[in-house]
Amino acid sequence: MSSVTYNKNMNSTPQQLHIPVLLEEVLAVLNPQSGESYLDLTAGMGGHARKVIERIGDAKLATLCDRDSFAISQLKDIEKQGATLIHQDYEHAVTDLKASGARFDMILLDLGVSSPQLDRGERGFSFSHDGPLDMRMDNRQELTAATIVNTYPEKELARIFSEYGEIGRHQSEELAREICYQRKRQRFDSTQDLAEVVRIEVGRLDHGKYHHVHPATQVFQALRIAVNDELGQLERTLPQLDDILNSGGRLAIITFHSLEDRIVKHYLKENSGSLDLPYTLIMKKPIAGNVNDYNPRARSAKLRAACKK
Ligand SMILES: C[S@@+](CC[C@H](N)C(=O)[O-])C[C@H]1O[C@@H](n2cnc3c(N)ncnc32)[C@H](O)[C@@H]1O
Repeated sequence: MSSVTYNKNMNSTPQQLHIPVLLEEVLAVLNPQSGESYLDLTAGMGGHARKVIERIGDAKLATLCDRDSFAISQLKDIEKQGATLIHQDYEHAVTDLKASGARFDMILLDLGVSSPQLDRGERGFSFSHDGPLDMRMDNRQELTAATIVNTYPEKELARIFSEYGEIGRHQSEELAREICYQRKRQRFDSTQDLAEVVRIEVGRLDHGKYHHVHPATQVFQALRIAVNDELGQLERTLPQLDDILNSGGRLAIITFHSLEDRIVKHYLKENSGSLDLPYTLIMKKPIAGNVNDYNPRARSAKLRAACKK
């Protein structure tokens, strides 16, 4: 099956809209048992959650969080069965859960974006679809990609491209300069406006060298991370999780790029390995997504997991 053969129209079920990544592997490390409690901090279309709930046998034991209102709308069937839904970013959700004294036997973070976020042009996440330069996971938030591209100082744009897009310093600076020059004449409002300028500018800097991936891939990743404060959310939330995980509880985290994976890897390494530290690693090396997977998002996925002592 190819990534385009599954149905993604408005009438699709949540399961058709997004195929959960590393599903069997997540179930193996979380090892859900009947009667255990589950916290899904990035529930999306509920792909992982539905399978975990089947195993624990009662949706009332599940708490599902997502900052995206479309995702929340796709989880209503699970809410009807008794699950708790939290429409919030996971950093604030965890802070509130901790304050309320909640504890869980399993926690999952499946980071990044869902297929419906990427596939719908109007969300502005993808340069493959024309749409507004938006990229907000939570549309109640004010900051959009258009605000960053049209108003941030050149230096800050260059930092975002080099730090979050992992684009070389020189190329990031040149790209930022070109964007700031062009925006004086006309605002960047659409994904295509930006993708085209990036394609031309990177082509000029690389003397027309052929690129396997569209040069805008890294620029779009950088802007998405900045709009949604993705790395900040992760860095501030990881140290709170052991407070809401029961002894013997399992934590599983799927990352999709090296910036996220580095944060998770270091955190788990620094918090496991000796008696006074909260975690034992379930596996030393991450489980990688299959490069032949029909779901393109799965190819860069890495799963890390740890057990609370
Ligand atoms: C990869 S998808 C999860 C897919 C889900 N595991 C499934 O199988 O359907 C990631 C989801 O996490 C949500 N998300 C990303 N960062 C978030 C954050 N900081 N707080 C809350 N939700 C977040 C996104 O809106 C998206 O729906």
